[in-house]
Amino acid sequence: MKYLFNKLFMLGFLILVLSVITTKTATAENIIMSSGTEPMLDVYKSPSCGCCQNWIDHAEHAGFHATAHDTDNMSQIKAERGILPQYQSCHTSVSKDGFIFEGHIPANLVKRFLANPPADAIGLAVPGMPMGSPGMEMGNRRDDYDVLLLKSDGTSTIFEQIIAAK
Ligand code: CU
Ligand code: CU
Repeated sequence: MKYLFNKLFMLGFLILVLSVITTKTATAENIIMSSGTEPMLDVYKSPSCGCCQNWIDHAEHAGFHATAHDTDNMSQIKAERGILPQYQSCHTSVSKDGFIFEGHIPANLVKRFLANPPADAIGLAVPGMPMGSPGMEMGNRRDDYDVLLLKSDGTSTIFEQIIAAK
């Protein structure tokens, strides 16, 4: 009898754990996928950065809820997040799940990444500040640039090539 009770108890516990996991997964998907909820971004930038604010406006226009954090120590933020010098730009955005989005990335690509984060990826980066990228609009000046997929081992691949309309 005691054996049966233990078995039933274990079964109940297993069901409880499974249901918690299922609920959690569903919630995470809802946050990203449902158009009704805004994905959250924490954006670290230096107080005097105008193009950073322009990018925040771009992200909010695209449906993100972006919270700006002014700091004079951007190099520390980037070092903490593992953003190597060759990937660095002005501001650093961090998603709720800890993915990083470095620089002037088109917001629709941030959404694409968050909807289905590739294995081993820590985030995306647009190194430097290409002319014509979101927040870097300067009249008709438009650079071609790559949006890089950053891997946890420090390497990167091309996530998307942006060819400027000339
Ligand atoms: Cu910038
Ligand atoms: Cu910036």
